Amino acid sequence: MVRTLIRQIKEYKKDSLLTMLYAALEVVLEIIIPLLMASLIDKGIEAQNINQVIKYGIMMFVIAIGTLSLGFLAGNHAAKASTGFAANLRDAMYTNIQTFSFSNIDKYSTAGLVTRLTTDVTNVQNAYQMIIRMCIRAPMSLICALAMAMMINLKLSMIFVVAIIFLVTVLVIIMYHATKYFNDVFPKYDTLNESVQENVVGIRVVKSFVREKYENEKFKKAAQNIYKLFVKAESVLSYNNPAMLVAVYGSILMLSWLGAKAIVAGNLTTGELTSLFSYIMNIMMSLMMLSMAFVMITMSLASGRRIVEVINEQSDLVSPNHALTDVKDGSIDFNHVVFSYKHGSGEPVLKDVDLHIKSGETIGIIGGTGSAKSSLVNLISRLYDVDEGSVEVGGQDVRNYDLELLRDEVAVVLQKNVLFSGTILQNLRWGNESASEEECKEACRLACADEFIERFEDGYQTYLEQGGSNVSGGQKQRLCIARALLKKPKILILDDSTSAVDTATDASIQESFNQRIPDTTKIIISQRISSVQNASRIIVLNDGVVDGFDSHEQLLKTNEIYRTIYETQMKGKEEE
Ligand SMILES: Nc1ncnc2c1ncn2[C@@H]1O[C@H](COP(=O)(O)OP(=O)(O)O)[C@@H](O)[C@H]1O
Ligand SMILES: [Mg+2]
Repeated sequence: MVRTLIRQIKEYKKDSLLTMLYAALEVVLEIIIPLLMASLIDKGIEAQNINQVIKYGIMMFVIAIGTLSLGFLAGNHAAKASTGFAANLRDAMYTNIQTFSFSNIDKYSTAGLVTRLTTDVTNVQNAYQMIIRMCIRAPMSLICALAMAMMINLKLSMIFVVAIIFLVTVLVIIMYHATKYFNDVFPKYDTLNESVQENVVGIRVVKSFVREKYENEKFKKAAQNIYKLFVKAESVLSYNNPAMLVAVYGSILMLSWLGAKAIVAGNLTTGELTSLFSYIMNIMMSLMMLSMAFVMITMSLASGRRIVEVINEQSDLVSPNHALTDVKDGSIDFNHVVFSYKHGSGEPVLKDVDLHIKSGETIGIIGGTGSAKSSLVNLISRLYDVDEGSVEVGGQDVRNYDLELLRDEVAVVLQKNVLFSGTILQNLRWGNESASEEECKEACRLACADEFIERFEDGYQTYLEQGGSNVSGGQKQRLCIARALLKKPKILILDDSTSAVDTATDASIQESFNQRIPDTTKIIISQRISSVQNASRIIVLNDGVVDGFDSHEQLLKTNEIYRTIYETQMKGKEEE
C-alpha cells in the first residue's frame, strides 16, 4: 500500500527531500544553542567577562536566526510537497475512476468515492507533511540532545533515559487503543456523505413527500456516529499530555535536586546545568512530535488504504489488444446469453436469451419493472460483460471491438440520464465534439426538441443547471435523444427515454426516425404499448426470460403477457 502511495509523490520528491534536509540542519543548530549558553554563563557571567558575554550572545543570536530561517524553509517546502502529493493522489484516483466499468462503479458508492477524494486525501496530506518534517528531525534531535547531555554528565543523563522509556511505553499503549477507533471512523464518513448526497440530489422529492424531518434525523445520526468515534479516539489520545507533563516535570525535579548536589560537590558547572535543562526540553519536544506524527500516521493509514483501493482498482472491461476497428452494420445477436451482476455469484438476471436482430430493424422491448430490459440492452454497448454465451454486433463478439468505437456506434439513451451544467449546445456536443451548429439543430429536430428550445429566450445557448434541473423531464429526455443522435450511431437504444414525453410527440419522434435514419437499428424500451407497437418486432421480457419476439399483431394472438398489457392499457385509455 505504502509503495502505491509513494509512487504518487512524483515531481514533489525534491521538495520532500529539501524539507528533510532543512529540518535536519535546523536540529544541528538547535543543539548548538544550549552549548553556547553554557559557555556564556560559565566563561562570561560567572567569570564576569563582558567581552565573552557579547561574543557568545552574538553567536547565539546568529544561530537563532539561522534556525528560524531553516524552519521557515522546511515549512514552505513541506507545504508544497504535501499539497502537491495530495493533488497527485486525487488525480490518480480520478483518472482511474474514469476507466471504471459499471460493475466497478457498483462496488463503490458515489458518496464513498467522494469521501476518498476529499477527506481521505486531506488526511494523508496532513500526515505526509508531518512525516517529512518530523521523521528525520525528531529522532535526530532526540539522539543528539541525549548524546550532548551524556557528554556533559553521564550520570545525570540517566534521568532522561528513564523519562524516555516511561513516555514511549505510555505512547505505545495510547496508539494501540486509538488506532481501533480511527479504523472505524472513515467508513462512517461514507454514510454521512451518502446521506447528504442523496438528500441534495433528491431535495425536490424529499420536500414533496415531506420527509425533511426524517432526512434530518438520518443526517444527525450519521454525524453523531462520527462525533462519538472521534471523541473516543481523542479521549484516548488525551492521556498523551499528562504523561508528557509527568515526564517533563519529573525530570526537571530530579535534575534540579541531583544537579544542585553535583554543583555543590564541584562535579558540574552552573552553565552545564542550564544546558541540561534545555536538552530536557529538546528531548521531550521530540517525543511529543513523534507521538503526534504517530497519531497522524495511524489516522491516515485507514485513509491511505481506502485511497489505494481506488487507485489499484482494475477495470474489468478493457479493449482487447488487437481490437476490431470497424463495425460492419447494426445487426445484433444474443447467443444463449446468461448474465448476472457480480459475475456468477448473484442470481442470473438474464436466463438463456437467444435473439437475432437485423440491421436497420426497429425493435420494441416491453416488460414489467425489474424484468431485465435495461440489463439486456446494456450488454450491447458492453457496459457489462455476459457470464455465458455471447453478444454480437455486426456479426462480431462485442468483446472483440475497441470499447470507444463500440460505444460510438451503439448510442444508448440511458434510463437514468443526466445532462451537465453548461449550454444546450455544449451538452449536445457530448455526443460529437465536432458537430456543427446545423448538425446539432438537425438532431434536435429529429428528437422533436427543436420546438421547445426555440421558445427559450437564449435558444441553443440556454444554460442548463447541474443535472438539467431547469428543464422538464420530457424536455430533458428529448435533449438526451438528440445528444445520442449526434453520434450518428449504427444502433440507437432508447431505454424508456420517452416516458415523460406525450404520446403524440413520441409518435412523431419515431416517425422521423423511420424517415431520416432508416439504416440505424433502433431499440425502444417502453412501458407503453403505444410506443412499441409500430416496431417491426417486439421482445416481451418476463423476469429475465424472452417470453415472445414477434410483431404487434402476432403477439396479440400468441402472447398471453402481451395481450394482458395491451388490454389493461387500452382500457385505461378508454376511461380517459
Ligand atoms: N447495478 C446493478 N447491480 C445489481 N443488480 C442490479 C443492477 N441493476 C439492476 N439490477 C437487478 O437486475 C434486475 C433487472 O433490472 P433491470 O434490468 O434494471 O430491469 P428493468 O430495466 O426491466 O426495470 C432487477 O432485479 C434489479 O434489481
Ligand atoms: Mg430499466
